[in-house]
Amino acid sequence: MRLGEARRALGFASELYGGKVRGLVDVHVRHNEFARLRSVVDPYPVYEAIRAAGRFVETPNGHLATADHAIAEQVFRSRRFGVVRPGAKPVDNAFDRSFLTRNPPDHTRLRRLVAPAFSPQRLVVFEDLVEQTVARLLDEARSAGSFDVMDALGMPLPVAVINALLGLPEPEGTALAEYGATLGTAAPGFRSMRHAREVMVAAQRLNRTLADVIDARRADPGDDLISHLVAAEGDGAEAIRADELVPLCRMLLIAGFETTVGVLGNAVDALLDRPDQWELLTADPGRAAAVVQETLRFDPPVQRTGRVSFDDTEIAGRPIAAGQWVNVLIGGANRDPAVFSDPAVFDLERTDAGAHLAFSSGIHRCIGRPLAELEATIALRSLAERMPGLRRAGATRRGNSTLVRSPLSLPVRAG
Ligand code: HEM
Repeated sequence: MRLGEARRALGFASELYGGKVRGLVDVHVRHNEFARLRSVVDPYPVYEAIRAAGRFVETPNGHLATADHAIAEQVFRSRRFGVVRPGAKPVDNAFDRSFLTRNPPDHTRLRRLVAPAFSPQRLVVFEDLVEQTVARLLDEARSAGSFDVMDALGMPLPVAVINALLGLPEPEGTALAEYGATLGTAAPGFRSMRHAREVMVAAQRLNRTLADVIDARRADPGDDLISHLVAAEGDGAEAIRADELVPLCRMLLIAGFETTVGVLGNAVDALLDRPDQWELLTADPGRAAAVVQETLRFDPPVQRTGRVSFDDTEIAGRPIAAGQWVNVLIGGANRDPAVFSDPAVFDLERTDAGAHLAFSSGIHRCIGRPLAELEATIALRSLAERMPGLRRAGATRRGNSTLVRSPLSLPVRAG
């Protein structure tokens, strides 16, 4: 690591440890519910406490947070809120998350360029790939008898799909997904100096490999997303600038990987805890789509996101000043009893699951939603068809991210 990078890592780490001390004061001295989210394994009781405290609560650093479904939806859909404060200093290119963190018109320009890759026509192509990949992975897993759902299916499936989407050659694709996963662990902040260093090394390798693939597609284009983006390179109103290519590809990789891993893992985890629900699925594997929606509601992979107010405004009678950030607690909004009956119950026969906000809403709603739902539905349907006797072979292990919820390890026996 070069000196400048070492300094940056140090800065991040001291901010992190300072944050931890402040966090303890916030929880134990000021009794701030939001601050508890930093340390809990199960965030759902905290969301309940936040909702009980009001439609908005103040966070220790002066932001607002909400676990109220109606407010969350209103904030997501309002054109008076954005994902970055107007005029804010641009982030370091290494951490730039492309149009996920851009307001219009840049957001509109870049999102439009990738949208065709997620069209229904393209999805048909992915359907075959997902079916074949799932069949191969489950054959391998069954022959092993005991396996880890995350290693055997949860991680390799989204990697195969993102490789195909971006047109990444093996073995670059697998390595890139690993770098992307490491980078994704930094979203809620660095845990330690070592973590900061790992993330920086992964970022450098990821950027270098993506830049090489982009160069290769410039010379020899194919029918993949990177080739289409390279063809749109330029300075015009509809074009992508050369320095926007790596951040965009990197964001797609990160946005599409850990989240899809999460929905697969959270679904299997919930089903194995509830034999009656697993039996409903094995009796009719066509219910897999309902399992996916109920998992996205009950235990969404992306637990929260944020919006900042562009001007002085008001929501549900509460004045919100220009520049005020609102933390939208998706995991909390998805259990709001004003919208969902018995919200803490995982029930794949419920009829209200579709109102979940797991993909947010408004102009930043997840562009990869159809792809993620396709992957998760085929994977869960095939699992139920091929391994109806699936049972646990050990405890689920979860990571400590409070932003992305996903098992790290889920040991099972094929049955
Ligand atoms: C179950 C899996 C997934 C979940 C839960 C998920 C969740 C989300 C959420 C909550 C957002 C909105 C963030 C915000 O409003 O601030 C988002 C945006 C996005 N997602 Fe996903 N995502 C998933 C899968 C994917 C996949 C497979 C891809 C692509 C390969 C993808 C690409 C994106 C992109 C590009 C955005 C930015 C959209 C924008 O800012 O306009 N996601 N996702």
